[in-house]
Amino acid sequence: MTTTSATVAPASRPDLDALLRSDAFVADPYPIYARFRESAPVHFSEANGGWMLFRHDDVHATLRDHARFSSRGRFSAALQRIDPGVRSRIGPLTDHFTVGLLANDPPDHTRLRLLVNRAFTPRVVEQMRPRIHAIVDGLLDEALAGETFDLIGDFAYPLPATVIAELFGAPVSERDRFKRWSNHILGFQGTGNPSAESVLRAQDSLLEMRAFLQELADHRRAHPGDDLLGLLVAAEAEGDRLTDQELLTVCVTLLTAGHETTTNLIGNGMWLLLTHPGQRARLVADPGLMPSAVEEMLRLESPLQRNPRRAAVDMELGGQHLRAGDYVMQVLGSANHDPDAFPDPERFDIGRTPNRHMAFGGGIHFCLGAPLARLEAPIAIGELLRRAPGLALAEPDAPPRWIPSGLLRGMESLPVSPAAG
Ligand code: HEM
Repeated sequence: MTTTSATVAPASRPDLDALLRSDAFVADPYPIYARFRESAPVHFSEANGGWMLFRHDDVHATLRDHARFSSRGRFSAALQRIDPGVRSRIGPLTDHFTVGLLANDPPDHTRLRLLVNRAFTPRVVEQMRPRIHAIVDGLLDEALAGETFDLIGDFAYPLPATVIAELFGAPVSERDRFKRWSNHILGFQGTGNPSAESVLRAQDSLLEMRAFLQELADHRRAHPGDDLLGLLVAAEAEGDRLTDQELLTVCVTLLTAGHETTTNLIGNGMWLLLTHPGQRARLVADPGLMPSAVEEMLRLESPLQRNPRRAAVDMELGGQHLRAGDYVMQVLGSANHDPDAFPDPERFDIGRTPNRHMAFGGGIHFCLGAPLARLEAPIAIGELLRRAPGLALAEPDAPPRWIPSGLLRGMESLPVSPAAG
């Protein structure tokens, strides 16, 4: 970790900070991250209302230092900056983010994670394999029938959305509502300066989602089943169970976390292959490279670009003085491009080893859904490559339509043609 004893006042670097809000950042954040890593690796961002950590070593170390980089109150820290008039109206949103996995430290986090692990087991994930194949087949039957299709809207989005809906025993017809709710709930995260509008929208969606999940959970209690929701309702460890409030919060987290992230992995991964024909040919020739190819996609275009934390104590980091309560963002997308950790980091190398990327985080909050994402993405990408060997970008000269977000890295749409022109 770049800790020194020479504390200086937070260098505001408005020149660099402005870049974080630029169109150039949305199009290609990596050269901008490189500038920060070199000249302001621990940076107080006015634009984002908190410290941003850009170097691999700092992100790696702080992910594992939950005593000083706490998750408790990490979302409510951002909510406290909202105008007091609006703040008084967001009690339910604030309450939601005081329980659950994401906004907790040990011992509460340890207890919850144990209970959720009892339900979301490797077996539950593995049981989804045939369903994932069937869903992929069905989506490709439709998508490949036309001259062009949207790789995101017609494939990368419906796959994880259907999988997560099925895991919860929810009708697949509800998946578009899930997506809207998830987008809104994630919409205010990733910055310490959320807008009042994004926060109110998040709360509306959260309340709708919780009401919907409450009905599903009540139904599961009356009709026990072995889908994920049924297992969560029944989960017990050392005589302990999830409270109603915890159950709903955990379900919301699983639904929102398991959705767009996986869409973005599949979309970004396919985009990388379509724009790197040599790597694509290598993968087609040797499908055994698929696991390392997926890890490289996760590294190079990490679906979740930053993780929020709260400084638990006053401390020095990288020559800067952080105060207890400060909002801190671990910039995973930058850490995963740090040349100190990855030789030739901008190169897409599907055989890269070692590849100790942090796209799934690290430490005690390491992504609980990583096994599911690592199951879905290879099936989706492998089948698409197999069934559409001539797949190409439908608009090769158009710039990619990146989602305008500092938190999520993914595309709004990606038109492709199944048969090369
Ligand atoms: C490519 C896909 C995915 C990526 C890139 C991703 C990324 C992440 C990251 C970076 C974290 C750590 C957050 C932190 O430390 O603050 C995380 C946590 C989490 N993820 Fe994922 N995720 C993905 C897919 C999924 C899926 C499919 C699910 C569930 C169905 C899921 C559920 C969770 C949960 C519950 C946590 C919180 C764990 C905890 O706090 O203990 N994720 N994810």
